[in-house]
Amino acid sequence: MSWLLHNLHIHLILLCCLSSLNFGFSATIQSSNETDRLSLLAIKAKIIDDPLHVLSSWNDSIHFCMWQGIKCEHRGQRVTVLDSQSRKLVGSISPHLGNLSFMRELQLQNNSFGNEIPLEIGHLTRLQILKLNNNSIGGRIPVNLSSCANLIEIDFSYNGLAGEVPVDLSFLSKLATVIIHDNNLTGSLSPLANLSSLKALSAAENFFDGSIPDGFGQLKNLQKLAIGINRLSGVILPSLFNLSSLTMFNVTGNQIQGSLPWDLGITLPNIEFFNIGDNQFTGLIPASISNSSKLHYLMMVQNKLVGKVPNLERLRNLEWLSISGNQLGSGEADDLNFISSLINATNLQVLGVNLNNFGGELPESIGNLSGNLQVLYLDNNKIFGSIPPGIVNLVGLQSLYMQVNQLTSTIPSEIGKLQNLQELNLINNSLSGNIPSSLGNLSLLSELVLGINNFQGNIPQSLGNCNNWQLLFLSQNNLNGVVPTQGVFSNTSAISVVGNSKLCGGVTELQLPKCDFKVDKKGRPNTTLILALSIPFGLLGLALVGSILYLCYFRKTRKETPLDASDNSLLKASYQNLVKATDGFSSFNLIGVSSFGSVYKGVLDGRIVAVKVLNLSRRGASKSFISECEALRNIRHRNLVKVLTACSTVDYQGNEFKALVYEFMINGSLEEWLHQNPEKDLSNEELRMLNLLQRLNIIIDVACALNYLHNQVQTPIVHCDLKPSNVLLDKDMIGHVGDFGLAKFLLDYATHDLSTNETSSVGIRGTIGYTAPEYGMGSEVSTYGDIYSFGILVLEMFTGKRPTDEMFKDGLSLHSFVKGALPWSVLEVADPILLEAKEEDEEEETSKENSKK
Ligand SMILES: *[C@@H]1O[C@H](CO)[C@@H](O)[C@H](O)[C@H]1NC(C)=O
Ligand SMILES: *[C@@H]1O[C@H](CO)[C@@H](O)[C@H](O)[C@H]1NC(C)=O
Ligand SMILES: *[C@@H]1O[C@H](CO)[C@@H](O)[C@H](O)[C@H]1NC(C)=O
Ligand SMILES: *[C@@H]1O[C@H](CO)[C@@H](O)[C@H](O)[C@H]1NC(C)=O
Ligand SMILES: *[C@@H]1O[C@H](CO)[C@@H](O)[C@H](O)[C@H]1NC(C)=O
Ligand SMILES: *[C@@H]1O[C@H](CO)[C@@H](O)[C@H](O)[C@H]1NC(C)=O
Ligand SMILES: *[C@@H]1O[C@H](CO)[C@@H](O)[C@H](O)[C@H]1NC(C)=O
Ligand SMILES: *[C@@H]1O[C@H](CO)[C@@H](O)[C@H](O)[C@H]1NC(C)=O
Ligand SMILES: *[C@@H]1O[C@H](CO)[C@@H](O)[C@H](O)[C@H]1NC(C)=O
Ligand SMILES: *[C@@H]1O[C@H](CO)[C@@H](O)[C@H](O)[C@H]1NC(C)=O
Ligand SMILES: *[C@@H]1O[C@H](CO)[C@@H](O)[C@H](O)[C@H]1NC(C)=O
Ligand SMILES: *[C@@H]1O[C@H](CO)[C@@H](O)[C@H](O)[C@H]1NC(C)=O
Repeated sequence: MSWLLHNLHIHLILLCCLSSLNFGFSATIQSSNETDRLSLLAIKAKIIDDPLHVLSSWNDSIHFCMWQGIKCEHRGQRVTVLDSQSRKLVGSISPHLGNLSFMRELQLQNNSFGNEIPLEIGHLTRLQILKLNNNSIGGRIPVNLSSCANLIEIDFSYNGLAGEVPVDLSFLSKLATVIIHDNNLTGSLSPLANLSSLKALSAAENFFDGSIPDGFGQLKNLQKLAIGINRLSGVILPSLFNLSSLTMFNVTGNQIQGSLPWDLGITLPNIEFFNIGDNQFTGLIPASISNSSKLHYLMMVQNKLVGKVPNLERLRNLEWLSISGNQLGSGEADDLNFISSLINATNLQVLGVNLNNFGGELPESIGNLSGNLQVLYLDNNKIFGSIPPGIVNLVGLQSLYMQVNQLTSTIPSEIGKLQNLQELNLINNSLSGNIPSSLGNLSLLSELVLGINNFQGNIPQSLGNCNNWQLLFLSQNNLNGVVPTQGVFSNTSAISVVGNSKLCGGVTELQLPKCDFKVDKKGRPNTTLILALSIPFGLLGLALVGSILYLCYFRKTRKETPLDASDNSLLKASYQNLVKATDGFSSFNLIGVSSFGSVYKGVLDGRIVAVKVLNLSRRGASKSFISECEALRNIRHRNLVKVLTACSTVDYQGNEFKALVYEFMINGSLEEWLHQNPEKDLSNEELRMLNLLQRLNIIIDVACALNYLHNQVQTPIVHCDLKPSNVLLDKDMIGHVGDFGLAKFLLDYATHDLSTNETSSVGIRGTIGYTAPEYGMGSEVSTYGDIYSFGILVLEMFTGKRPTDEMFKDGLSLHSFVKGALPWSVLEVADPILLEAKEEDEEEETSKENSKK
C-alpha cells in the first residue's frame, strides 16, 4: 500500500512538474510564434500584386506554418524557410522580415521586388541562404548583412544594386557562394577576396574597377571565379594561377594586362572553363596549357597574344576553342599544325582561329576533326594553298568561314556532303574552277558568299533549289553564261552577280545583257554634260566633245554594271585589323586629311589600301559616313573610287570608331598634279606634269563617273563636292571620283518623308569656288550643281588656276577670265605647263589611248 501511495505521490509531483513546465513552454511559444505570424502578415502587406494568389493562403483559417512557401521548425513552430521564388510577386521587402529570427533560408528570387534590401536583415543571425536574384532591388548591399554570420550563400544577381561592396562583408567567414553579377556595383573586389571560405564568386557585368586583388590567390577552396565584363585592370599575380581547385576562370571583357605564366596548365589541373577574352594579354600561349586536360572552354579572343599555338592533343574534352583576334602565327608553313593535335577532341563544336596572322596551308587532317564541329572560323588570315578535300568529312558543320585568305585551287566537288551547312563564306581569296553544283543539294544553305575570286564557268542551276536563301554573293569572278531566274535568282535583294563580265540573262532587275549578247542602247548621256563641256572647250569644238561622249559611252557599255544592293555588308574589317594594317594609325602612314577625317595608307590582306578614319567629334561626320556608305553600297564604276569595306565599331578605349577602306590610288589626287607645291616637289626626281591628252582623259573619266551617278543608277546620286582633290589617279592615270561624304540621293519626293526637309535644303555644302552659285541662294540639290563643279574643274585643268586664286576678285572669275580669252587669246589663259609639254611623244599617247580602251 505504501509503495502505491508513494507511487501516487511521485506521479502527482511529476504531473505537477510536467504541467508547470508545459505551461511555461506554451507561454513563450505563444509570444514567439505570434511574432512570426505578425511578421509574415506584415510581409504580405507590402506585396501589392500577387497574380498567382499565392498569398491568399496566408490567412488565419490555417496555421501560418501551413501557409504556402513557409516551413517551420518542428518543435517551436518558428519560421525557418520562406520560399516564394518565381511567384510573380510585386512589391517591396518589409523590414518586419527581421523579426523572423529563426529563418535559415530566404528565397524571393525571380519576382518583381523593388526598393532596397531592409537593414533589419542583419537581425537574421541564423540565415544561411539568401536569394534575391532577378528582382528590381536597388540601393546598396547593406553593411548590416555582415551580422548574418551564418550566411553560406547569397545571390543578388540581376538587380540594380549600386555602390561598393561593404568591407565588413569580409567577416562572413562561412560565406562560400557569392553571386552578384549583373548589377551596377562599383569599387574594388577586395572585400570579397577576404572571404576565407569562398568557393564561387560571380561578379560579372558590374562596374568593378582596380586590379584583381591578390587575396584571391590565398583562397584555397576557390573553384569558380567569374568576374568578366567589368573595368578591372592591372596584371594578374601568379598566385591566382596557382589555385589547383579552380574549375572556372572567366575574366573576359576587362583591361587586364600581362602574360600567362608558362606553367599555367600544370598549376591549374582542374580547370574546365578558361576565358581571358577581350583583354590585353600579351606573350605566348603557354605550351603547358595542354596539361589542363579537363578543359571544355578555352577562350582567348581579342588579346595581343603572339607566336605559335602549342600542341593541344591532351585537351580531349574541348568543346569550344577560340583564339580569334590575336596576332598569333608567323605566316609560316607550319602555323596551323596545332589543328591536327585537336583530332582527339571529339566534342569540339566551335573552333575559331580567325583574325590572326596564320600562314601556311590547312592540314589535310582538318577532315579528321570531330564530326560534332559546327562552326569553323578560319577567315582573315594568310592561309594559302587549297581547301583540303577532307573538309567534307566534317558533316556537322553549319558555318564555314574562310574569307580573306590566299586560298587557291577549287572548292572540293564533294562539298554537297556537308548536309548541315548553312553558311559558307569564301570571299576574297584566289579560288578558281567551277562552282560545284552539289552546293545546290544543301537544303539548309542560306548564305553562300563566293565573291572576289576567280571562279569560272556557269552558275549552277541547282543553286535555285534551296529555299532558305538570305544571300548569294557571286560578284567579281569570271563566271559566264546564263543567270538562272528561278528560286533565289528571282530575289534581287538576296543575290549579287555583278563584276562577272560574261553573264547574261537573269531577271530584268539585274540589268544584265540578254543572252544573245546584243548591246543594250538605252540611257543616252545627259545633254547638260554636253553643255558644260562645250563652254570651256569653245575652241576645241564639238568634234572633241562628241568624241569624249563617245568614249565615255563606249567604255560604259563595255565595262560597268551597277552593283546590287546586297554588296556592302560583306567585307567587314575589324578595328584590330585596321590598327594592324596602318601600324596603329601611325603618322608615318598618314596620307591626307579629308573633309571629315584622316586618311591613312595601309596594307590589308596583302593589298595596299587607303583607310579613311572619320573624325567623329566633328559635327556631321557620322552622317557623312552614312551618306558615303549609302552612296557606295549601290554603285560601282571604273571611274569611282572603290570602297573595299567599311568598319563601324568601338576602338580599344570603347569610343565609337568608323572607317572606310578604299582601293589605294597610287598617283594621289588630281589636285596634287595640277598644283604642285614647289618646295615639296623639288625633292622628287621627276616633276609631276600632266600633258593635254592626259588631262583630257581624266576629264572624260570624271564625265563618265558623273554620267553614271546621274543617269545610270536607279536613284540618281549628286556628288555635291566635285573638285580636283576628290579626283584620284590610279597607276594608269585613270581618274576616279571619290569622297562621297556629302553625296545626296535624289529621292522620289512623293515617297520621301518631307517633314525632315533634309534632302531639299542645301545649307552650305561643297567647297567654295566649286559649288554652284544657286546653292548659295537656297536652291535644291540637283545634278546641275555637279555639272557646274565639273565645268569649273575643266577650266581649272586647262588653265592651271584654282577658282579661288587670288587674282579672281572684283568681278573677275575663272569663268569670265576664260570667256574673255576666247576665241583668239586662248594660249594666254592656258596652263603654261601645257605649252612646255606640247611636244609630247606621239607614241606614248597612242599606246596609252589604246590601253584605256
Ligand atoms: C503558437 O503555438 C502554440 C503551441 O503549438 C499553439 O497552441 C498556438 O495556437 C500558436 N499560435 C499561433 C498564433 O500560431
Ligand atoms: C485561406 O486559406 C485557405 C487555404 O489555402 C483557403 O482555402 C481559403 O480560401 C483562404 N481564405 C481566404 C479568405 O482567402
Ligand atoms: C523565373 O520565373 C519564370 C516564370 O515566372 C520561370 O519560367 C523561370 O524558369 C524562372 N527562372 C528561375 C531562374 O527560377
Ligand atoms: C518587428 O519588426 C518591426 C520593424 O523592425 C518592429 O517595429 C516591431 O516591433 C517588431 N515586432 C515584434 C512583434 O517584435
Ligand atoms: C527573371 O524573371 C522573369 C520573370 O519574372 C523570367 O521571365 C526570367 O527568365 C528571369 N530571368 C532569369 C535570368 O532568371
Ligand atoms: C544596421 O547596422 C548599423 C551599423 O552596424 C546599426 O547602427 C543599425 O542599427 C543597423 N540597423 C538595423 C535596422 O539593424
Ligand atoms: C545601371 O547602370 C546602367 C548603365 O549605367 C543604367 O542604365 C541603369 O539605369 C542603372 N540601373 C540602376 C538600377 O541604377
Ligand atoms: C583581409 O583580412 C586580413 C587578415 O584577416 C586583414 O588584414 C585585411 O585588412 C582584410 N582586408 C579586407 C579588405 O578586409
Ligand atoms: C564568361 O563571362 C561572360 C560574362 O559574364 C559570359 O558571357 C560568358 O558566358 C562566360 N564564359 C564562360 C566560358 O563561362
Ligand atoms: C604555388 O603553390 C605551391 C604549393 O601549392 C607553392 O609551393 C608555390 O610557391 C606557389 N606559387 C606561387 C607563385 O604562388
Ligand atoms: C605537361 O605537358 C608537357 C608536354 O606538354 C609534359 O612534358 C609534362 O610532363 C606535363 N606535365 C605534367 C605535370 O603533366
Ligand atoms: C588520339 O587517340 C588515339 C587513340 O586513343 C591515340 O593513338 C593518338 O595518339 C591520339 N592522338 C593524339 C594527337 O593525341
